[in-house]
Amino acid sequence: MQTIKGAISGVSGSTVTVKGMDGARMHTVAFVGKDGLLGEIVRIHGEQVVLQVYEDTTGLSIGKEVVSCGKPLTVRLGPGLLSGVFDGIQRPLEALRLKSGAFIKKGVSLDVLLDKKWEFIPRVKKGDAVEPGDVVGIVRENQIIEHKIIVPPPSVSSPLNKGGIRGVVKEVRKGVIAGDEPVVILEDGSAISLYQEWPVRQPRPFKERLSPNAPFLTGQRIFDVLFPVAEGGTAIVPGGFGTGKTIVEQTLARYAKSDIIVYVGCGERGNEMTEILTDFPKLIDPSTGLPLILRTVLIVNTSNMPVAAREASIFIGATVAEYFRDMGYSVALMIDSISRWAEALREISSRMEEMPGEEGYPPYLATRLGNFYERAGKVKCLGNNNRTGSVTIISAVSPPGGDFSEPVTQASLRVAGALWALDTDLAYRRHFPAVDWNKSFSLYYNSLKDWFLKEVAEDAVLLRDCIMKMLEREGELKEIVQVIGLEALQDVDRLTMELGRIVKEVFLRQSVFNEADAFCTMEKQYWMMKCIIQFYNKAKDAIGKGVYLEKILASPVATRLMRMQDIPSNVFKQRAREIMREME
Ligand SMILES: Nc1ncnc2c1ncn2[C@@H]1O[C@H](COP(=O)(O)OP(=O)(O)OP(=O)(O)O)[C@@H](O)[C@H]1O
Ligand SMILES: [Mg+2]
Repeated sequence: MQTIKGAISGVSGSTVTVKGMDGARMHTVAFVGKDGLLGEIVRIHGEQVVLQVYEDTTGLSIGKEVVSCGKPLTVRLGPGLLSGVFDGIQRPLEALRLKSGAFIKKGVSLDVLLDKKWEFIPRVKKGDAVEPGDVVGIVRENQIIEHKIIVPPPSVSSPLNKGGIRGVVKEVRKGVIAGDEPVVILEDGSAISLYQEWPVRQPRPFKERLSPNAPFLTGQRIFDVLFPVAEGGTAIVPGGFGTGKTIVEQTLARYAKSDIIVYVGCGERGNEMTEILTDFPKLIDPSTGLPLILRTVLIVNTSNMPVAAREASIFIGATVAEYFRDMGYSVALMIDSISRWAEALREISSRMEEMPGEEGYPPYLATRLGNFYERAGKVKCLGNNNRTGSVTIISAVSPPGGDFSEPVTQASLRVAGALWALDTDLAYRRHFPAVDWNKSFSLYYNSLKDWFLKEVAEDAVLLRDCIMKMLEREGELKEIVQVIGLEALQDVDRLTMELGRIVKEVFLRQSVFNEADAFCTMEKQYWMMKCIIQFYNKAKDAIGKGVYLEKILASPVATRLMRMQDIPSNVFKQRAREIMREME
């Protein structure tokens, strides 16, 4: 590859202009100044280029050398990613701290992941034919995750690997293997190592996109029952200050049904990130009893790190997520928050003196956001196999003042399949998760109905629709009551209002601090609905026979119904049956 050298002609924050870069290519990286700061070429004007530098540019001066070797911004993928904590340009933070102290020095580069040796267990032998996506062996990265070593897919922007590696195996190594040594060599001499590089802005290829037909179960009733997101889908969680976005992201990371979690902490305040870095490693994975971090990759960049690195970080997250997807895993990609990413984009755009769009965001905000959300999906993986994998994106949005009409929320809404709208009033009343059931929606619900009918119960969809109707009717009645007063309502309508209240208080409310309820199995969710609806029907019959509503509400079974949440999932079905028998 040709090396191009130029000289700095201007610096404005993270934006650096360079002269004499004839032949430079768009979206390739360059090294700036004597420290070799990492930057990306984002605009070309003849022999002049504009760079976005991912590190602190203090101290750079005119005339200093810039070198580009024509490679796109890539990430290194391989064993060692799990349990890792990386910054916005995939430098491992712990190793950086050991090398350069608590404050990251400039130009420190580390050969990410290459330092360690891993035991390679081959899955191919001499004479086997392999193609991109095939598994050539595995590395047992930890007690839970088998890291599959796959033949790298072809990459359009990488001159090294345009057509992809394919051919007949000539040599296979096994045992403990270091860094980038080859593990499999093909007859044409091409080598496959434990690691592969991938350009972050290019989605990794797959065979076929599959339609969303299974839910991404979260263990949170309001999401699973009312507004489910499909496995391989996208959900956005917008909410004003302190409405519980971070708690939603972390609760889902912990309880949602996925094999791998990629958590991108994007531009939040430094102390919030510290919380993640200290809390996350302590979390215990409820499904295995082992630390959750064993199947997590953390990517963090705080608000005081360079904006360009923040802009890149979500694409690094997406690439890492796709890499695990290609092994056949289901991956949850959590972003907190996409608004800080958009602010980074806005800052970069204004420094480049681009024409601003709405509220100063560049006009291509929506396109860029779309490029990111499109990387979610459930797919048939490349290669001679029947693996399927998925990336589900859950991203928090922080609209200023909780106003959802602002550009980032609106642009996200256009591409997201589910909206979980957090409401300031609910959060203020400490109704958590503070999801507004009137504003939220799921476009996946119809295509997931079959799954619920088959996997949960024949009446699961019916029960869900009854719960939804009850909430709607309660809303309407509330308005009527404001005009005519509660006394004027008939007993049946008052019953509907009471039941609406029970749905909200007992079913939708779910505290992360209640151990018996923080995670709710699908079985518990179903039986809770069943109890509530049966209670409603029995109470309606009783009212028809002249029983007073007050008497029904004061009955012991009503009290038990109100405390249903506290019954742990594993004994719920049995207890629910008792409660229902008591209603007879
Ligand atoms: N599901 C929940 N159960 C119990 N408490 C909750 C829940 N969700 C949020 N909270 C409460 O709300 C507080 C704020 O939540 P969180 O930090 O997630 O909000 P945020 O929207 O991320 O705030 P910010 O705008 O500052 O990023 C938490 O500290 C917690 O007390
Ligand atoms: Mg937060």
